[in-house]
Amino acid sequence: SAAGRLAVLGATYPTDGWTNTTAAILDKTGRGLLHQPSHPLAILKDLIFREFPGYAHYDSLEPVVTAQQNFDSLGFAPDHPGRAKTDTYYINRDTLLRTHTSAHQLQLLAAGARRDGALLALAKNGSAAPGNERFLVAADVYRRDEIDASHYPAFHQVEGVCTFARSEIRDLLRRANGSASAAAAAADSGVEAASTAAALSDATVIGAGNPIQPEHAAEEAVFLAEHMKRTMNRMVVGILAKAVDAQKTSGEDPAGGFPVRWIDAQFPFTSPSWEMEVQFQGEWLEICGCGVMKQFILNDAGMPDRVGWAFGFGLERLAMLLFGIRDIRLFWSSDPRFTAQFSPGRINTFRQFSRHPPCTKDVSFWLPAAGAFHENDLMDLVREAAGDLVEGVRLVDSFTHPKSGRVSQCYRIDYRSMDRTVTNDEINAIQERVRDSMVRRLGVELR
Ligand code: PHE
Repeated sequence: SAAGRLAVLGATYPTDGWTNTTAAILDKTGRGLLHQPSHPLAILKDLIFREFPGYAHYDSLEPVVTAQQNFDSLGFAPDHPGRAKTDTYYINRDTLLRTHTSAHQLQLLAAGARRDGALLALAKNGSAAPGNERFLVAADVYRRDEIDASHYPAFHQVEGVCTFARSEIRDLLRRANGSASAAAAAADSGVEAASTAAALSDATVIGAGNPIQPEHAAEEAVFLAEHMKRTMNRMVVGILAKAVDAQKTSGEDPAGGFPVRWIDAQFPFTSPSWEMEVQFQGEWLEICGCGVMKQFILNDAGMPDRVGWAFGFGLERLAMLLFGIRDIRLFWSSDPRFTAQFSPGRINTFRQFSRHPPCTKDVSFWLPAAGAFHENDLMDLVREAAGDLVEGVRLVDSFTHPKSGRVSQCYRIDYRSMDRTVTNDEINAIQERVRDSMVRRLGVELR
């Protein structure tokens, strides 16, 4: 970040007091895991794309977006916690690494509404939905977070958006004489692939704390919610069935059915909203937030006569289960013992190669008196010093001195390489850098 400029993917941006994007994170922005057809995340993305033939497919939108796109366009309040510097990687006050694929909702709808050729040309299957009436966006997203086997500050999502002309819904409802059957018919006969196994959960119940928007008629919202749930059920059944096939052929126990449940949720850009959970090998897996799109987004996009639903699906957690990958860092490994195990279109169980021994270090310190310490600052500092050699960082002890009232904490840092045995000397050198920057940048007093 020489002289107040930061280079990201070939463009440079002015920095300011908001800039908190580290070199370790910038390094991830150019990796393009979704474009490597044999990478497990790309395999999963392709399976999802295949479940949605009538949708425009995007997977090459760059991760640098405006705060307007990522937050304002979606109705995030000015003081929404998601905007905090402790949670988001800012390039500067107005520019950031997208924290979710929803950042592209308004942009892609508006591009469809005004037939913006340049943006529409980025779709991989141009003619499927020429006005972006329905689309998927697969992309890398970034969030400041803790460090452990299932958290990584870069991960991947697939956004799904489906809109209808309000008149189309009116016609469907009139013809079907009932909302649930109309949505079912639209989902079953529509552009989505046919599926026999999709079992809908109970009829859509819209709870009191999860309201229908005043702009929507009840039948409209129920239609959208039903259509969304049917479509998402079909997607999940399609993917998991593929995984069970893979496990059958490798002689392992197939999973049973795929029960699905819908938990009321809240997002600034949908109402009503849900979290979809799927039971897989006995565990409830939270895979995706979703809901009826806030009408102001469609209005702002220049399509006030349409309504829609959206989901945002996280790829890593499902991929870890489907492929049996137990450490999220492996997705970023270029070790051939990892990459050579997968092939396009195929879900197979990853065979863990022998793990190299870890090296563990503790660091104890007094918190700064002003109380400005945030754990995520420590996480990024360790990532900067250690890169992917850090496996986990966790608080193991905390106490308040009875007389002075000062707080002492101890964090344990596990270092481990994916592809070699680390030496105590090299880890000591890293740990020294960590301790040094903790004093300089976090203002702590080492013990
Ligand atoms: N963007 C939300 C997230 O990342 C998920 C979401 C997408 C929710 C679309 C509703 C609609 O958590």
